[in-house]
Amino acid sequence: MNPETKKVEFSEKAQKEIREILTHYPDKRSAMLPVLNLAQAEFGHISEDVMVMIADLLDLTPPKVYEVLTFYTLLNEKPVGKYLIQLCRTLSCALAGSENILGHLKQRLGIGIGETTPDGLFTLKTVECLASCGTAPAMQVNGAFYENLTRGKVDKILDDLKRGAQPVLKPMGEN
Ligand code: FES
Repeated sequence: MNPETKKVEFSEKAQKEIREILTHYPDKRSAMLPVLNLAQAEFGHISEDVMVMIADLLDLTPPKVYEVLTFYTLLNEKPVGKYLIQLCRTLSCALAGSENILGHLKQRLGIGIGETTPDGLFTLKTVECLASCGTAPAMQVNGAFYENLTRGKVDKILDDLKRGAQPVLKPMGEN
């Protein structure tokens, strides 16, 4: 671990939520995922400092937390933009044109995979199957699903978000 690692703390409210989460698990190490999700909501991303704090809290080693952190694509190790775009590139989406959509997103945003636009608005990532294969190609923006993507649909989504619209968390098949 980095010797520069800083001490960070959860807010009072988050600490209360963690105490509640821990009551649901016989072994506190099993609470890692909900605690990581809460940490992401609290800090925006899971930095090394936060990872060390969580390891400490759950009696785990930081590498164990890191393993889980890097497995789940919805958890972020680095700061991301206001809107996190996660485009699926797995088979059904690839066959339905996700590469084409990816090229369009890169061109529209002027960034590559894993990068954030200079205005801090958008981060672009690719992920494995989002379980929306029947309505491929699909992506998520801050957890909201957008399906049957076309270049035109992507343009409208980006324009709406730039205008300040919020991604709407609708059930699969409705975006
Ligand atoms: S392959 Fe893209 S959602 Fe399943």
